[in-house]
Amino acid sequence: MLWHSWHFVPLFVLVLTLAKGDQAACDALKGAWSRAAESGLRFYASGSSTGAALTEPVESRAESARNDLQTAAVLAAELDATEACGPNASLAQRLFWLLLQSREDGRKRIAEVSPQRCPEGRPRRAFFQGHALDPEMSLLSPEPSWVELLHSGWPVFSLAALVESEFRDPPTYSLAATRLGRQEPSEECNGDQEVFHHISMLFAAEGRTARLIEIRDFLRTQVDGDVDLVAGPQFFKELMHGVQGSCPAAQAVGYAALADALQCHWRRPSSHRMHELADVAVAKAQQGALKAFGHGPGAFNVMMRSRWPLLSFLARLHPRTGPSDLVVSWSSREAELGGTNWAQNFAKEVFGDRAGVHLEEDVECADIYVYRSKVPVNFGGVLIFVDGERSPEDSLQETLLRSYPASIVVGPMAAGGLSDFFLCPAASTSFSARLLDSPMRLVQPRPLQVRPGFAAYLVYRCYPHRERFFHLLDSAAKEQGLGSVESLSRCGNAPPDIERRSKRYSASYYDDAVELFRSFRFAMVFENRLSPRYVTEKIVNAFLSGAIPIYWGSPFVLKIFNPMAFIYVNSFRSFEAAVEHILRVASDPELFALYATAPVLRNTSIARWLFSWHRNAPPLLREEPTLREALATLAFQKHHEGLRGTLTAVERRPFDYAHLFPP
Ligand SMILES: *[C@@H]1O[C@H](CO)[C@@H](O)[C@H](O)[C@H]1NC(C)=O
Ligand SMILES: *[C@@H]1O[C@H](CO)[C@@H](O)[C@H](O)[C@H]1NC(C)=O
Repeated sequence: MLWHSWHFVPLFVLVLTLAKGDQAACDALKGAWSRAAESGLRFYASGSSTGAALTEPVESRAESARNDLQTAAVLAAELDATEACGPNASLAQRLFWLLLQSREDGRKRIAEVSPQRCPEGRPRRAFFQGHALDPEMSLLSPEPSWVELLHSGWPVFSLAALVESEFRDPPTYSLAATRLGRQEPSEECNGDQEVFHHISMLFAAEGRTARLIEIRDFLRTQVDGDVDLVAGPQFFKELMHGVQGSCPAAQAVGYAALADALQCHWRRPSSHRMHELADVAVAKAQQGALKAFGHGPGAFNVMMRSRWPLLSFLARLHPRTGPSDLVVSWSSREAELGGTNWAQNFAKEVFGDRAGVHLEEDVECADIYVYRSKVPVNFGGVLIFVDGERSPEDSLQETLLRSYPASIVVGPMAAGGLSDFFLCPAASTSFSARLLDSPMRLVQPRPLQVRPGFAAYLVYRCYPHRERFFHLLDSAAKEQGLGSVESLSRCGNAPPDIERRSKRYSASYYDDAVELFRSFRFAMVFENRLSPRYVTEKIVNAFLSGAIPIYWGSPFVLKIFNPMAFIYVNSFRSFEAAVEHILRVASDPELFALYATAPVLRNTSIARWLFSWHRNAPPLLREEPTLREALATLAFQKHHEGLRGTLTAVERRPFDYAHLFPP
């Protein structure tokens, strides 16, 4: 892209006057070096052989890495960082010059801008073999402490990790490929650390952070002994072996990984004790590294060539540059039941495109977290529970939600206690799991269609009440020559060997159901049970497909949907009477057309409001905040109360275990 082209960079430099002691100039340099290190590391991660996700093409990563490095080089040519920005900058500066040694284009450019400051270029192999890395490198010495380096904000560790990648021998993109299985004779580690080595390599190469849940379990094991170590989380189990065993390199990596895993919390401004724990872990990592690699001549070289991914973990510890937005998150695992990640879609509808709000998956210490089944661990922000069942109790979330002051329930039933509540049945929130339809579809005209099938029956569990109705309707319809009720799942009269369950786990279960109903005039959509306001996605699947729903469930359905557009089985004195009515509708074309083309959604304030968490929903009938606005406003309000310290955490946070790691 043109504005990334090299020729524009010197203009930028002219505008920026870099003077000694100028804080803005030092910040600019800090930022430029951080960006250079980050995009360089991103480029190397893109060559990972472990299947790490690639969201942008390798060429574009290479391009931004080159541009960021050149920009940083030009800034560095104008300013002696050590002189202008103090001792904290000196290690970063030395690492940056080292980085340029490996980059011919970087060297050339800097020679043009500032010939006197261009370091001697040396071929990378000779450079490496000559141990030229060592004399200047105080990264492996007791002073300065790594904790201090970390808090100084200079990207020391990420620059070091990038230097390591650049000087990798043999040259390969993949850190894991280079290091898995390589054993340096100088490291006194044995087979006990092998598993830990492998897992930490994979975590490092994929940029993965050990999950907080694993840390929690690991720490509990150490403190309370209430987790079975054998079945416990592998990563930290092995970490413990590393820590307790005779291998200080494994210990160093283990503590660096621990600090990395904690840093999500560590970034939250109010987590003072988390800062302390992370700092202790970083200090322990430094102790381990000094023991493992020494701090004499050659030590830095040994660390860089060792098989342990210490620098890769340390490189992730730098505080983020850029604004610290409020983070809204959800679990990637919410997609496990039913295909598309409904939580992501819901979060995007409610919080997307808001100023100062950043949406990111799997940030367990986010400020606001949307969930149904995957609770964030050691969480201290606002929890939004979106119920897909009858109640929080059904979803096994009631105790947590009741006792957590920053919880909001969106669903058919409140959790009580300290939680807040928005009434909204799954019939509405199911739109977060639909890829093809929005609530707007519910007010669009419905043309009459000719359909070959009589009725469809699609459920996951074969409850007796709907099985009985299925048999009644199926035999009566057959008797009258209207067709049959077709079992689209393992219930009804499906042969026992038919297992169509896999459909439920396809890309979008709800979209599939709509598709399956399309060739039928009716769809039998019975709820699992009767429960207040428990109206789920089933009736909506039928409406969206154009089939007339045969519904059994809560009368709350009559507040949402037009009673002239579906058959409400509960309103008949018996199943038999309902079946009789259905047969009459099926054999009377005028009556059938009336049902099939009637507006679906009731034209009332409440019916419309229930869908208004979605952006593409029918407009409200009166002046009032949409559900989306009301929910976001309450979440932000709770967030601000939380920042004032009035909210407590769900569970024990990792810092409760700080005493495990005495300095
Ligand atoms: C160096 O970093 C420390 C934090 O480790 C900070 O307190 C100090 O102010 C920094 N010094 C300069 C000159 O920026
Ligand atoms: C819904 O009701 C409002 C008045 O309450 C009316 O103005 C509007 O036309 C109605 N819309 C439909 C689609 O019937």
